[in-house]
Amino acid sequence: MPEILRGKDIAPARGKLGVLMPGIGAVASTLLTGLFSARKGLARPVGSLTQMGKIRLGKRTDRRFELIKDFIGLTDLADMVFGGWDCFPDSAYLAARKAKVLTPEHIEAVREELEAIEPMPAVFDRKFVQNLDGRHVKKGATKMDLAGMLMKDIDAFRTQHRTSRLVMCWTASTEAYREARRVHASVKNFEAGLKTSSPDISPSQIYAYAALKMGIPYINGAPHITTDCPAFLELAGENRVPVCGKDFKTGQTLMKTILAPGFAARLLGISGWFSTNILGNRDGEVLDNPESFRSKEISKLGVLDTILRPDLYPELYGDFYHKVKINYYPPRGDNKESWDNIDIYGWMDYPMQIKVNFLCRDSILAAPVVLDLILFTDLAARAKMGGIQEWLSFYFKSPMVREGLYAENDLFVQRIKLLNTLRYLMREELIHHTGLDYYYDLEETRPSPRRVTASKRSSKTSKG
Ligand SMILES: NC(=O)c1ccc[n+]([C@@H]2O[C@H](COP(=O)([O-])OP(=O)(O)OC[C@H]3O[C@@H](n4cnc5c(N)ncnc54)[C@H](O)[C@@H]3O)[C@@H](O)[C@H]2O)c1
Repeated sequence: MPEILRGKDIAPARGKLGVLMPGIGAVASTLLTGLFSARKGLARPVGSLTQMGKIRLGKRTDRRFELIKDFIGLTDLADMVFGGWDCFPDSAYLAARKAKVLTPEHIEAVREELEAIEPMPAVFDRKFVQNLDGRHVKKGATKMDLAGMLMKDIDAFRTQHRTSRLVMCWTASTEAYREARRVHASVKNFEAGLKTSSPDISPSQIYAYAALKMGIPYINGAPHITTDCPAFLELAGENRVPVCGKDFKTGQTLMKTILAPGFAARLLGISGWFSTNILGNRDGEVLDNPESFRSKEISKLGVLDTILRPDLYPELYGDFYHKVKINYYPPRGDNKESWDNIDIYGWMDYPMQIKVNFLCRDSILAAPVVLDLILFTDLAARAKMGGIQEWLSFYFKSPMVREGLYAENDLFVQRIKLLNTLRYLMREELIHHTGLDYYYDLEETRPSPRRVTASKRSSKTSKG
């Protein structure tokens, strides 16, 4: 296994970090408006672990808490530059105005910065996003030619902004559900498929190919498969480039992965979980198409199984009924409303019900997730952590994992995984929260911390 870099060996976040986003719609323009506003001190990056989060280091008695971004040396917001592609030519300013997520006052305050981001023509195929008819698109004789054009765009962006590192993050529409085929089985097959314009290769895979081929990490914010197939894992492995996805964890699924671990922890039975929501933005319009909805449905339905573990607890979760519906309802725009009815049961099988009515703002929840993913993925690249970044599962509805492993969907387990990865990278003690050594003299952790001075601390794990 290749070694990863830790501590002082991690390449510092020096120079500009270029962020390339296929899809400058609601999520991307909300991220950009908030980020430019935060730079000017006009708004706070609420919800972002990389901007506001603190990490505990050492034992509880040490009282050491550091800002994550300082502890791990993340790229400063001032050093980020942005570009992207879209099948509509609207600048990020126009996209933000049209998305109507934010008030005109917030958008006008950073108008100049937003107007400077004009999307490059997209690689687009209506077969994969039927409800859109964008005309700002590239034309190439083959899919390999299209990949080549994207690489030229990337090169031009790199030169223009003098970036030292790049990250690509898919913030474009959800593509139709497709499973991996033979063309995705190896890099060789995939490249042959690009040359013959195989209909099984999606636009997102052409972007991902261009990125990984150039050593640029790729983040998939949508639920369709892009890099979840052997060809891309081979490419990411060869070039030691990070990949992660899928589907930003926001809204209803975020609530689900907050609540379900609680029921499972207390062994409360569940007989049914019905989730429905109304959504009126362009994302909702795209998801109104059954093929695109299928990608979303699979991503949303998958979260409960690995939290409740019906395989281990068939008597509590073996036959619970799980239903997810998304209804396109234009008047609501980005202000989604979701309803969950959860039928649970307790002692002696007595039934109870829980109702959750979340009036959320989709892109407001997504923006900090995108920012954190960009900064952490860049960190992974600087630490030479190629391949799947499972420690970033915290941010995804349907986390990518190595073949043979199940995805961890419990938000709290995901958080521990993320924080301990940061501690590991910085050669700090890992924390597993038993706290037993404050009460007992434990053989295996001697000498006990009660008798050890800070300078003598040598154990690899901290139990506070
Ligand atoms: N908002 C959330 O909370 C949330 C949560 C999870 C996932 N997502 C996913 O994030 C993505 C973006 O969501 P959004 O609300 O910004 O959607 P949006 O419709 O506002 O923006 C998507 C943009 O992508 C463009 N596009 C489509 N195909 C493209 C292509 N091939 N190349 C370049 N651009 C292309 C569209 O023209 C559009 O401007 C969607 O896939 C969505 O499912 C969003």
